[in-house]
Amino acid sequence: MRKKITLVGAGNIGGTLAHLIALKQLGDITLIDIAKGVPQGKALDLSQSSSVELFDIKINGSNNYSSLKESDVVIITAGLPRMPGMSRDDLVETNTKIISTIGKAIKKYCPKAFIICITNPLDAMVSILQSSSKVKKNMCVGMAGILDSSRLKFFLSKELNVSIKSIEAFVLGGHGDTMVPLVRYTTISGVPIQEFIKKKLITQKKLNSILKRTQNGGGEINKLLGKGSAFYAPASSAVQMAESFLKDKKMILPCAAYLDGEYGIKDLYVGVPVIIGKNGVEKIIELKLTANEKQEFKKSTNAVRNLTNLAEKLL
Ligand code: APR
Repeated sequence: MRKKITLVGAGNIGGTLAHLIALKQLGDITLIDIAKGVPQGKALDLSQSSSVELFDIKINGSNNYSSLKESDVVIITAGLPRMPGMSRDDLVETNTKIISTIGKAIKKYCPKAFIICITNPLDAMVSILQSSSKVKKNMCVGMAGILDSSRLKFFLSKELNVSIKSIEAFVLGGHGDTMVPLVRYTTISGVPIQEFIKKKLITQKKLNSILKRTQNGGGEINKLLGKGSAFYAPASSAVQMAESFLKDKKMILPCAAYLDGEYGIKDLYVGVPVIIGKNGVEKIIELKLTANEKQEFKKSTNAVRNLTNLAEKLL
């Protein structure tokens, strides 16, 4: 039997998710949104591409959370996106209410599903989603690290003029200005980036500006779009997480995952590398950090904790 993937939020990211999932034929798709007609319209439009793209999956639209029933994977993008000049944290009030309502619906209709949150402010929203849905902590994750890392990889591949496939990079911490790009673990075909600096193929100054641009990656797109925020790369990133779960690929991916003492952090959702397989988050990979990296990570987790506490108080 085909798996059921439900997308709560049928806006820019939700629609792109549905398109990618259909093309990859990962499972049947249900789009849920409060906007009347939107999930139904997108489902119909996408379904009509099936004769060209040659996929057999079913795509449905709904305005009712009961359509979550029997979902294997739920990806949540419902809520407000950032407008230019807004930070992700500015969304906390509105999106906390929306996410807790959806969490309760997940508890009622599909408490065993694998849940991927995309709605911002990301780390705080994953936490609210887990506490309101009561799904197992390793079955609830947030999409941020893959996106932040892919922005860093893209900028590096452009600067070095090498294939994107040759670049490996990790960004840890919260999905915000305090995110921690791990330069020490950035490699080009296995060669540390420091070697490229030594060989003068990239300057430290240029690398620093790329790291800054990565941290502001979402804001840059926000400003260009004028309204709404990035949606293609966020959708691709979440689909990679869903695919690793559905196909038990056991990929190591940076995701917002629940820490229970790992990295010296307790009871908090924040971005770290994890293995995603058929049992959800199967392992948290603890990297050895330098004193400086630890300090940066601590700064980031403190910011996430403050926002998570604020979101919990809003409930
Ligand atoms: N239940 C279901 N859908 C909802 C609800 C709700 N309670 N509230 C809002 N929505 C829907 C809106 O009707 C809209 O169609 O969520 C959708 C959001 O889509 P967009 O506004 O296009 O936003 P998008 O770019 O997809 O981003 C969604 O992801 O990256 C984050 O910051 C971003 O929080 C934002 C989210």
